[in-house]
Amino acid sequence: MPEEAAPAEPRGWRALVLGERTTPRGREADTAVIKAIRGTRDLLPPETAVWNFVEAEVRDLFRAYNFQEIRTPIFEETQLFARSVGEETDIVGKEMYSWEDRTRRDGERAQSLTLRPENTAGVVRAYIEHKLWERGLNKLYYIGPQFRRERPQKGRYRQFYQIGAEVIGPASAGSESAARDAEILELLATLLDRLGIEDWHLQLNSIGCSADRARYNEALQEALAPLAAKMCADCQRRAMRNPLRVFDCKVPEDQPRIETLPRMSQYLDEPCRKHFEQVQEILSAVGVPFALNDRLVRGLDYYTRTAFEFTHGALGAQNAILGGGRYDGLSELLGGPKAPGIGFAIGEDRLVLALNRPAESVQRKPDVYIAPLGPGMNSEAARLARELRCHPIVAELGDESFRLKKSFETATKLGARYILIVGEKEVKSDAFALKNLESGEQVLVPRTELPPRLRS
Ligand code: HAM
Repeated sequence: MPEEAAPAEPRGWRALVLGERTTPRGREADTAVIKAIRGTRDLLPPETAVWNFVEAEVRDLFRAYNFQEIRTPIFEETQLFARSVGEETDIVGKEMYSWEDRTRRDGERAQSLTLRPENTAGVVRAYIEHKLWERGLNKLYYIGPQFRRERPQKGRYRQFYQIGAEVIGPASAGSESAARDAEILELLATLLDRLGIEDWHLQLNSIGCSADRARYNEALQEALAPLAAKMCADCQRRAMRNPLRVFDCKVPEDQPRIETLPRMSQYLDEPCRKHFEQVQEILSAVGVPFALNDRLVRGLDYYTRTAFEFTHGALGAQNAILGGGRYDGLSELLGGPKAPGIGFAIGEDRLVLALNRPAESVQRKPDVYIAPLGPGMNSEAARLARELRCHPIVAELGDESFRLKKSFETATKLGARYILIVGEKEVKSDAFALKNLESGEQVLVPRTELPPRLRS
């Protein structure tokens, strides 16, 4: 393996990386407290219990729909995102964390790498790299962090988490069917209902195939020609290069002009129109409510045909809880075979916000607090804890240096259901005092009967 060249040490490197500063007494380490980077955050217990609850429910549901997990790297070649998400999108144009990797001694060129801003591109790359078409239809899901340099606010972070899924395969495996779109949308409605999230709204659109898009882009360009000069710089550039992206504009003054532009629904060809009708038909048959929104184009270039977003009332400005759609041409765009696909990504941070569930309601508290009383009892308590945890009982261990009062206080604070006293007398008789901290009832329980008693 060729070794990596040692990086040249740029001026000020130590100061930047180690935080050293020069003082009259020489070089001193900076002892200022280091905080998490803006837009990133620590997820702490007990809140992590809610995240675990959501992820367990999601995995359970994915199993019911026959999805399997895929894990792709957190960083990829920058090109992957530029080619799939699109150079004119906000994500690629403004929000990616990219860097030049070091040049290697073997002369291989430095690569531009990027922290993934989304996961669909990585999944399709993996589909091509591992010839996943040989498996027929792939139903894949992922849970993990994504990175975008956005202005942080509630519900919008620079490191955020997505729960996503992709259904991709050769057309012969049914990947193009409207039944796949409807199944994905029904899965999402079921998930939100199952988590107890009310007040969600599904907005649905079809943005057609590439031929429709070409005709629509032409119409947009024509309509934008007399308007663009009065619009923002992004719109002016997009009007020339990728007119569909004009719909991503957030500048309030541009909105009345954007409102006058032609609508995608007028440019769908017959097969795309039929496909979209079928999606709607199945959704109505399974009872998933939706609203049509022909201004919904999604902020990524790879979409074709069905595009959708679920919004939620309680999320304020960042009200898109999830988004997705079809990307029938993406595999070919990345050098692979034709592989129609559809997928979605839920913003997990936003899902947890919308869930608004107290951690206490999903957190498993200790079943028992084991209190060793007196010197030499730590080993015996550890032995008992090991036995009980196999059953599986959630056990917390105290320390022999604690007095009985402190053990009771700690057990109560932790919310344990029982406290188990491990003293010399108990060890000798192999029976232990077990107190129910709710009812106050205390009984002497032989060692072998502890597991069933604690589980009951
Ligand atoms: P997206 O609409 O860019 O789509 O992101 C999906 C979801 O991720 C959004 O609806 C939102 O809930 C969440 N999200 C996006 N940016 C942030 C942020 N900065 N902070 C917190 N949450 C955020 C995609 O990523 C596509 N890959 C979805 C897809 C999969 N399409 C087909 N397959």
